[in-house]
Amino acid sequence: MNRVYSQITGWGCYAPERVLTNADLEKMVDTSDEWIVSRTGIRERHIAAPGEATVAMSLQASRRALEKAEISADELDLIILATSTPDYLCPPASSMLQDELGASRAGAMTLVTGCTGFLYGLITAAQFIETGAYKHVLVVGTETLSYGVDWEDRNTCVLFGDGSGAVVLSQSQTPGGLQSMLLRSEGDGWDALILPGIGSRTELTPEVIERKDHKLKMDGRRVFKFATRVMTDAVLEVLTDAGLTIDDVDLLIPHQANKRIIDLAVRRLGIAPDKVMVNIERYGNTSAASVPLALCEALAEGRIEPGDRIVMVAFGAGLTYAACVWQWQSEEVEEEPILVTNWPVPESLQLMAQEMRTAAWRMQVQARTAASDAAMAVMLPLYAFRKGVKKRLSKEE
Ligand code: COA
Repeated sequence: MNRVYSQITGWGCYAPERVLTNADLEKMVDTSDEWIVSRTGIRERHIAAPGEATVAMSLQASRRALEKAEISADELDLIILATSTPDYLCPPASSMLQDELGASRAGAMTLVTGCTGFLYGLITAAQFIETGAYKHVLVVGTETLSYGVDWEDRNTCVLFGDGSGAVVLSQSQTPGGLQSMLLRSEGDGWDALILPGIGSRTELTPEVIERKDHKLKMDGRRVFKFATRVMTDAVLEVLTDAGLTIDDVDLLIPHQANKRIIDLAVRRLGIAPDKVMVNIERYGNTSAASVPLALCEALAEGRIEPGDRIVMVAFGAGLTYAACVWQWQSEEVEEEPILVTNWPVPESLQLMAQEMRTAAWRMQVQARTAASDAAMAVMLPLYAFRKGVKKRLSKEE
């Protein structure tokens, strides 16, 4: 049997109409546009209308993806919906989406791996396609975080937004699709990003609601440290597995959580900023919807061509992280060899040259990472000291 590849044949995204700007937030909590932009890169985010929940947004994005793929919902074999904000804890939001779409033959699963959810779903879907088991799988990442955040907590409410992104994955004979992947979880960080009052550990009592334990709690600094470490490591690992370096990447699509986290990874990896998709300023962190929203916008902007190699990377609650190298296909594109071509040398030598190239790049990234870690170890105490002095002085005044 011929090898089967997974191809993204359809994509679609949806963001609610209502836009909440930093100026709007200034009226709600003690914050400023200057603080939000300089610390996160976010200028505005979309917020779902009352009653507009995860399934409704998923439906919009999914219909667009199906239309683009030119298939009907009843051709779908499986629906994977990644979300941490389902309409209900039970039933699964994926089954409600299946019903709304009219995808009568499809299995449906809801995946809860925080902001990493879409990539977990995409990589899982590719396995079903590449084994030949399924022909078409719909992968959706949707989040109604405006429901989950405490709108009086400035530490979290400025960061998040609502939205949805979907792709249709189909079988293809053209080489490409998933080239390498990584799914990880550092479960000892499970309490760094948590909705403590919802679930089987806690009864939803008036006291829980009083403490606002039904809303998102986050240890921002801990998540920041985790994110900056794993973003670089994950990209390094998937590129090494694919026998590539950052120079072979046409577009990096990182999870849009904080522009500073993205910038640090970009510097460490040594990738040109124009090869990095960033749209956080208009959406904030839309969690599981962040990567597919960025992917859709990159496609709409013509930033992805057939044959391009894309790296997608995400991190989130769990603490989970995931990454993959994906080669964009079109039926017209012939397989592009990764190896250095046109050399009159045996394949083993070409492979060795490729491995040496990857190893040299790895060492550069590791050196840059060590240097920036050392700089931060020196700068952070100085920064904290300066902040302490400023605070004392302003109290004395
Ligand atoms: N407006 C103004 N001040 C704010 C604020 C806001 N919205 N939110 C927090 N602050 C204050 C804090 O109270 C703190 O004040 P203090 O020094 O008097 O205690 C100060 O700003 C600095 O806080 P700090 O935590 O050092 O800021 P930071 O530079 O680390 O940025 C985050 C905070 C949350 C933006 C950053 O830690 C982050 O992005 N973390 C990762 C979060 C994330 O990605 N979560 C989702 C994962 S998928």
